[in-house]
Order: sequence, then C-alpha cells, then structure tokens
Amino acid sequence: MGAFAQRSLVALQNRFKLDQYLDSPRTYMASALHIGPLPLDGRAFLAPMSGITDHGFRKIARRFGASVVVSEMVASDEFVKGDAEYTLRAEGEGITPHIVQLAGCDPRWMGEAARLAQANGADVIDINMGCPAKRVTGGYAGSALMRDLDHALTLIEATIAAVSVPVTVKMRLGWDDASHNAAELARRAEAAGAALVTVHGRTRCQFYKGHANHAAIAPVKAAVSIPVVCNGDVETIEQARAVRTLSGADAVMIGRAALGRPWLVGRIARGLEGADPGDPSRAAQAEAVIEHYESLLTAMGEKAGLRHARKHLAASLDHLSHEGTRIDASERAAILTGEAPGQIITTLRALYARPPELLAA
Ligand SMILES: Cc1cc2nc3c(=O)[nH]c(=O)nc-3n(C[C@H](O)[C@H](O)[C@H](O)COP(=O)(O)O)c2cc1C
Repeated sequence: MGAFAQRSLVALQNRFKLDQYLDSPRTYMASALHIGPLPLDGRAFLAPMSGITDHGFRKIARRFGASVVVSEMVASDEFVKGDAEYTLRAEGEGITPHIVQLAGCDPRWMGEAARLAQANGADVIDINMGCPAKRVTGGYAGSALMRDLDHALTLIEATIAAVSVPVTVKMRLGWDDASHNAAELARRAEAAGAALVTVHGRTRCQFYKGHANHAAIAPVKAAVSIPVVCNGDVETIEQARAVRTLSGADAVMIGRAALGRPWLVGRIARGLEGADPGDPSRAAQAEAVIEHYESLLTAMGEKAGLRHARKHLAASLDHLSHEGTRIDASERAAILTGEAPGQIITTLRALYARPPELLAA
C-alpha cells in the first residue's frame, strides 16, 4: 500500500474511533442552555483566542463536543474593508453554531461588520469588551469600553440593530479593583437586547496576573436573567464544576488550557453532564493534532503555517511529556524547527504511539 493510501486508512480508522468516542452514551441536560433561540448541547465553551482559535482549531474542538466555539477577535473596520486576515478569522464553514467575535469602538463599523458576518453565515455575534491589550484598549475598544459604559452601550445597540441573529458580550470584572462594573454593563446589555454575557474573572489592570475571581461573577448572575458564562483559569472538570458553583454561572468558558489539545473543552462539557469520557485515544489525539496542523498549512500557506503551528505543537508536546511520554530534545527540535511537514507529521505520529513511561512520584 502506498504512503498516501496508508495515511488515509489510518485517518479513517481513527475517525471511526472518534465517532465511537462521540457516540458513547450521552445524557443531555434536561433544560438546554440557549443563546437567544439557539439551543446548545452543553455548558463548556471554547474561549476566543487571537492566534489560537483559528477555523481549523474551532472545527475540531466543536467535533469533540465543545458546546460553543468563538472566533478570534475580528477588527470590525478592517473586516468591512475586506482585510484578508480578518476575513480568515471570521471563517465558519462546517461549524454550528458559528460565532464571530467583533471588536471596535465605532458603532457604524460594528453594525456594518455584524451585518457582513451574518451575511457570511454567522449564527451569533459576540462583542469583545474584555481584551486588555494596549493596541486594542488604546484604540478605545476591548476592555477600555468598561471605563465608559454609555459608549459601550452605543456599540451594543448598533450591533443588535444591524442583525437578526443573537448578540452576546464578553467582558472582564471591570477596569480595576476599584471599578467592578460588570454587573452594571451586563444589566444594560440585557436591557439593550443582548442574549448572553461572558465574564472573565479578572480586571483589565490585572491582565493575566493572579487568579481569576469567580465569586466576583456572582453579582453579574444576580443582575440579569440572560445566561452568564464564567471564564478564567479552568483546566479540569472539577474546576469547571467548582467555578460554576462559586459564580452561579450557567456555563464555563475555557481558553489557554485547550491549547495543544482541542478535545479538552468537549471532555469538560461531557464531564459537566456527569459522563466524563476520559481523553480520546492517543491515536485519535494524534489525528486531531495533525488535522489541525494540516489545516493551518492549507489556510496560511506552507511557510507561514509552519511557523504559526509551532506554538500549538509545542503545547501538544508539553502535554504529552507531562503525561509521561519520553520526548528527546532532538525529536522536539525536529518538530519545532523542522521545515518538512511530512517529516514533522511522521515524528508526531510516532510520539503519540509511544507508550507513556511511569512518572516519578
Ligand atoms: C493568546 C490569547 C489570545 C486571546 N484572544 C482573545 C480574543 O481575541 N478575544 C477575547 O475576547 N479574548 C481573548 N483572550 C482571552 C480569553 O478569551 C480568556 O478570556 C482568557 O484567556 C481567560 O481564560 P483562560 O484562563 O481559560 O485562558 C485571549 C487570551 C489569550 C491567552
């Protein structure tokens, strides 16, 4: 059998294993969570992450059971002007529901971008009011909007007025510890017609320092009757359960912990339903990582895709060695500095097939 046929066969067999994994008994929650009229099939969301949650990653995460996946932040003005990078970020082929996150500080661009995203197939528009990056807050978007709720509301209203699909808002607790105003922003967003809010349990001034404060999300839940999603520092099913209890939130959003393992959010979603399927088989993990790798090469071109993929592959290798797989420095270097995709894929597959060694206590 030729190499290509063999690879297709392996992929098919592993796809079959994935189908079995996903078809194992599933107990849906009695009352499904909704975004507006849209019913969801679980309560664990993949967070929007620029440079990480590209189309391929979201598609695979959703297939593994993430209840919701959200695009990388899309700059509203650049998107409307047809910028290629932002158009790629908003891609949603094969993903349902398809959620596009928009950022911006001008109501006209936000409305136009929302309209365009809906015309291109978005089922939901999310508005970014949580990004702490100076490039974004300096442009008076992202979490800077939490310093001026009147202006934030003009953006929410313009977005809602422009589309017929539900609009959601992602925010932080507030600008700093002296101004936790997420509950007020959520209440005003709900009054304007927002369908759901997500709160990252940190302030803008914290950036990613310290720990997320999930109890501080409880006042947001108390302030609104639309669903509230809590976010920050969740890596396991137990943590997901605990932060839902602390915050009272309807669902949990997971970001950084999913890097390198697109199946994680699906596993947490199932775990919250009381049916933890465990991690997929190593063979299925390998196929998921390779499928994502190949999707990056296709979407970005081989040269840019190779470089972009390295942070994903580095995270996958870190998880593998954390779980006891021996990875030599030369193998790691071959994957993270190599220029030949075929060779990289062969090495990756060999590493996922290598039995983990006993970890020292
Ligand atoms: C690399 C990176 C990129 C991010 N990009 C976005 C973004 O585009 N839009 C957004 O709302 N949040 C963005 N975030 C914030 C995450 O969505 C999330 O709120 C944050 O990482 C906390 O969740 P976690 O502790 O589960 O990672 C980003 C975070 C990281 C680490």
